[in-house]
Amino acid sequence: MHLAEDKMSDNTAKAKDTKNTVTITDNATGKSYEFPVLEGSCGPRTVDIRKFYAETGMFTYDPGFTSTASCESALTFIDGDEGVLLHRGYSIKELANKSDFLEVCHLLLYGDLPNKTQKEDFVNTITRHTMLHEQMQFFFRGFRRDSHPMAIMVGTVGALSAFYHDSLDITDPKQREIAALRLIAKIPTIAALTYKYSIGQPFMYPRNDLSFAENFLYMTFAVPSEPYKISATLARAMDKIFILHADHEQNASTSTVRLAGSSHANPFACIASGIASLWGPAHGGANEAVLKMLKEIGHKDRIPEFIEKAKDKNSGFRLMGFGHRVYKNYDPRAEIMRKTCHEVLNELDIKDPLLDLAMELERIALEDKYFVEKKLYPNVDFYSGIILKAMGFPTSMFTVLFALARTVGWVSQWKEMVEEPTHKIGRPRQLYTGSPARPFVRLEDRP
Ligand code: CMC
Repeated sequence: MHLAEDKMSDNTAKAKDTKNTVTITDNATGKSYEFPVLEGSCGPRTVDIRKFYAETGMFTYDPGFTSTASCESALTFIDGDEGVLLHRGYSIKELANKSDFLEVCHLLLYGDLPNKTQKEDFVNTITRHTMLHEQMQFFFRGFRRDSHPMAIMVGTVGALSAFYHDSLDITDPKQREIAALRLIAKIPTIAALTYKYSIGQPFMYPRNDLSFAENFLYMTFAVPSEPYKISATLARAMDKIFILHADHEQNASTSTVRLAGSSHANPFACIASGIASLWGPAHGGANEAVLKMLKEIGHKDRIPEFIEKAKDKNSGFRLMGFGHRVYKNYDPRAEIMRKTCHEVLNELDIKDPLLDLAMELERIALEDKYFVEKKLYPNVDFYSGIILKAMGFPTSMFTVLFALARTVGWVSQWKEMVEEPTHKIGRPRQLYTGSPARPFVRLEDRP
């Protein structure tokens, strides 16, 4: 395996101390405390509260981390108000339109776009590590055929740590890199096998003469009994979908990977934990939920009824594919996905009533006072579900594709954290609201 020793990212902490401070006054005691203000390269200034507890004896409270930076990172920048998403400084729009997924993987992992030789080496390395240990096939066979593919993903990716013992030592930079490259290279094979297993078709081995996206489409849709023609438009759309999902700052699954990794757990186990977190419908499971919702709506005439339901807090219903924790403007990925969605449907000559329904839902929601005031725009998952359906993926595979693409983000974030010399185990505190200490009551004395 070729290792890019000269390209190991420099992960020394880089935030600047602005020499300004924020003063917090405890009105109960009248004492004031000063905390330094740090500055990154872009984004809001950040109060450094690492010594807050030691100095004040108090905790800070921020469930959902809406105001808390959990780490320093040089990978991805989001300005949610402006609808900006940058990877290592490059805009997602430029990357999606001018680059390809493996270049973006190189960019995230090593900090820069590859030059020609680096690209050749990187593509070659990934391409030559797509095969899985043969025994992994038997591992798949332990699952019920009707298992949710994400359940199989969590299990099989976690199981990689039982097969690749030579890349588990996280203190060894070479082993860290081998694990990262293995994960990027093998995850499409696992994803395709998951699909093949669910429909009872033979597993297709990877083909080294194909591009990353083509190979994935081949392993997913080809059968041994006849040739498979790969559409260039579909391969390009697949590649774009991978780029758009490659990384997204400190979202729930990435934070899960970092937290798991902070205890020095092995990288395969960490990525499995990210997959588990991604599965939820408030996160990566949303693209699957969008399709289910569109089917439930069924007809344009019923959109107003569902819009009203989404506004009613007691209904427990939300418009899936709308809203985002960070973007309070149009999600830049959704814009690109919308265009790609039309390209795919034209190429396949699909007139999908669900797409018409989705467009109408988007139009109505964007004009509705509730959605406008709360800045609830369609997110990336709103369109990805429709494209993936058109490409022939069953709904249950949608989140698997998200996991496939996000693996590079997870491993890059994991590597960045492990390589940060001062990184600590993640250990949040809590605001305890349970019973204070009380004496034990023996069973016979309990009411
Ligand atoms: N439909 C109806 N109302 C909504 C929606 C929605 N999709 N999203 C948010 N709201 C309302 C919410 O009820 C709240 O109202 P109020 O201020 O009156 O209490 C307000 O908007 C803010 O919502 P929130 O839950 O505090 O916002 P959040 O940042 O915690 O949640 C979210 C973000 C993405 C979980 C949420 O918008 C949501 O559940 N969306 C639907 C699921 C979805 O599409 N998820 C994919 C996210 S993008 C890809 C990814 O990250 O994986």
